[in-house]
Amino acid sequence: MKVFYDKDADFNIISDKIITIVGYGSQGHAHAANLKDSGAKNVNVALKNNSSSVSKAKEAGFNVISIEEAAKESDILMLATPDEIQGKLYKEHIHSSLKTGAALAFAHGLNIHYGLIDPRDDIDVFMIAPKGPGHTVRSEYIKGGGVPSLISVFQNKSGNAFDVALAYGSGLGAGRSGMIETTFREECETDLFGEQVVLCGGLTELITAGYETLVEAGYAPEMAYFECLHEVKLIVDLLYEGGIANMRYSISNTAEYGDYVSGKRIINNETRKEMKKILSDIQSGKFTKDWMMECQVNQPNFKAMRNKAKNHGIEVVGKKLRDMMPWISKNKLVDTKKN
Ligand SMILES: NC(=O)c1ccc[n+]([C@@H]2O[C@H](COP(=O)([O-])OP(=O)(O)OC[C@H]3O[C@@H](n4cnc5c(N)ncnc54)[C@H](OP(=O)(O)O)[C@@H]3O)[C@@H](O)[C@H]2O)c1
Repeated sequence: MKVFYDKDADFNIISDKIITIVGYGSQGHAHAANLKDSGAKNVNVALKNNSSSVSKAKEAGFNVISIEEAAKESDILMLATPDEIQGKLYKEHIHSSLKTGAALAFAHGLNIHYGLIDPRDDIDVFMIAPKGPGHTVRSEYIKGGGVPSLISVFQNKSGNAFDVALAYGSGLGAGRSGMIETTFREECETDLFGEQVVLCGGLTELITAGYETLVEAGYAPEMAYFECLHEVKLIVDLLYEGGIANMRYSISNTAEYGDYVSGKRIINNETRKEMKKILSDIQSGKFTKDWMMECQVNQPNFKAMRNKAKNHGIEVVGKKLRDMMPWISKNKLVDTKKN
């Protein structure tokens, strides 16, 4: 596995280029701000005219242009909009307008890997996929650090697409912690698997099921919240800092013994079999096909699930408890008015 750092990149090769970030959400705001702070002189943000993000981007000092304009003028065009709209966006506004030799950039491999975008063959196509949420891409950069990112070139028309990708990643702060060379396929399939099985789907179901088990057994919801959600961060901090053994060094022997004997009853052979099925649905393209069909009919199931989860008891009691701990929201990573 090859890992690249700032020393391997020459940011100067893109500092005078016209770089446009399409979308100003989680990744978009971080890419625009980090590249600008790294010394890129011409960073634009492209949005729809009626976008609620226009005012946020303008307030942060960015020139906001239309996607058509962006496609015509940009040397590097980063698609930082939700994955599910990128195919349509590309077909309708970008495909015929992008300059020959320009670079089309992605923060995730989904649209290229599953063939939802078939890029023109006279352009470069690369990916810098940060291994963390966009708000962390920004907050780590401000601290002087960076979020490790995956780097890959899908199309190399110019002959120096990889150097451009390295320079872009360096401007993003990824060169401080490492840019790992991969393929669009590997990034996409492992990313979908990680978020569904462990980071998002697996973790939130584990937390919610633990909370519900305690509450249904008559324990106080506040107690269940602290035990099953609040303390996750304290454990994750130890994992992040030094791995599983580091966390186990810090917890009590009783907790560690319970970890060994009960963990395997929760993640058992059935769970592992299901993990394999989920991976196979990702590899075959079934997951992405289902998700795109859901998007074609305006996401009714997605919206219903989001709404139901938002109103779960754990969110209600959590809000009440977090209001009693004002330091948690100080320097919040997510401020929906700004980013
Ligand atoms: N979220 C993450 O942490 C993360 C991590 C790694 C990689 N990625 C990848 O990064 C990319 C961006 O994801 P994201 O989560 O950052 O997206 P996001 O926050 O959901 O993007 C929202 C932004 O896209 C804009 N947008 C929506 N539809 C648009 C359209 N038709 N034309 C132009 N702009 C439009 C929104 O504007 P409005 O205000 O008008 O809605 C908003 O500014 C994806 O490829 C994703 O897989 C994300």
